[in-house]
Amino acid sequence: MTVEKEPIDQHCFIRDRAFSTRARDGFRHLLRHLWPGGSSRIVLPAYIGHSPLEGSGILDPLTELGIPYSFYRVDERLEIDLTSLENELARGDVFAGMAIHYFASLQPELRKAKTLCHDAGAVLVEDCCHCLDLPGRGIGEIGDFALFSIHKVLPCSDGGILQTNRDALEPGTLPRESRASELPVRLWRDALFEEIAARRIGNYEALAAALDGLPGISQFWSLLSEGTAPLNLPILIEDVDRFEVYKRMRAQGVGVVALYHTLVDAIEPDRFATSHEVSRKILNLPIHQDVGTEDIGIIVETLSGALTELGG
Ligand SMILES: Cc1ncc(COP(=O)(O)O)c(C=O)c1O
Repeated sequence: MTVEKEPIDQHCFIRDRAFSTRARDGFRHLLRHLWPGGSSRIVLPAYIGHSPLEGSGILDPLTELGIPYSFYRVDERLEIDLTSLENELARGDVFAGMAIHYFASLQPELRKAKTLCHDAGAVLVEDCCHCLDLPGRGIGEIGDFALFSIHKVLPCSDGGILQTNRDALEPGTLPRESRASELPVRLWRDALFEEIAARRIGNYEALAAALDGLPGISQFWSLLSEGTAPLNLPILIEDVDRFEVYKRMRAQGVGVVALYHTLVDAIEPDRFATSHEVSRKILNLPIHQDVGTEDIGIIVETLSGALTELGG
């Protein structure tokens, strides 16, 4: 036996991360490796969107590779319905389950979801594409694999990460494919994520307080859950056409989005009514790290102006 003078184990407390152009490229690479073929499928949460411009980051790799998929239910806060997940897994022939931390709110039942997946012989892919990199908060640390999307949270137009967690695979089994441009890799390495998280949380709380009691909307989360550094502040537009509010706010220069305004066709409205209701009403307000105190007032003013104009 030898005791080395310096560490030589490249897997000891070193995360296995491969950078890609976008998260979907890392996901495609992972699927190529994991899918056993035939009718074996992946089970996805029933809240996945697509747009003509961006496609669908989750579904496109699956359709490109011809991999079957099915959906489990999420509730009105987009949290995993464990019974529905269990039922989907019980139908058999599942190689992977996926969980998504929507708008960066951590899925509270992720550990149970992982156990259900493992009991069914499937791995868990944890989608952290709306999240920051905040070690110790459970982000990307529970799933067997985790995906991050750099361009969604830092100022660049591409960049994704596929993380393979300890014990998910024998080291070196997944062929390494690392492709990304320099900027996102540098930004991810150098970003002060704790500061970014603090700014996002501060902005979220200021905006949530300013929106309190505004008629015609409801806030998607009553409280920001522990460990969450939000992607944005989601609200539900209750009484008027969400798209009209979106258009008016955009026209006033406020960068709102609607994640996801259109769900993929395979999420049927009759089976997944809750998902469709969220999709119809959701509007995501900006609270990212570039948003300043004065912007919060502008967002509130623009939103309430749009609601008043629309008679909400
Ligand atoms: C939850 C989620 N996962 C994955 C993706 C794909 O990310 P990327 O654009 O980096 O491929 C998206 C966006 O399209 C997303 O919203």
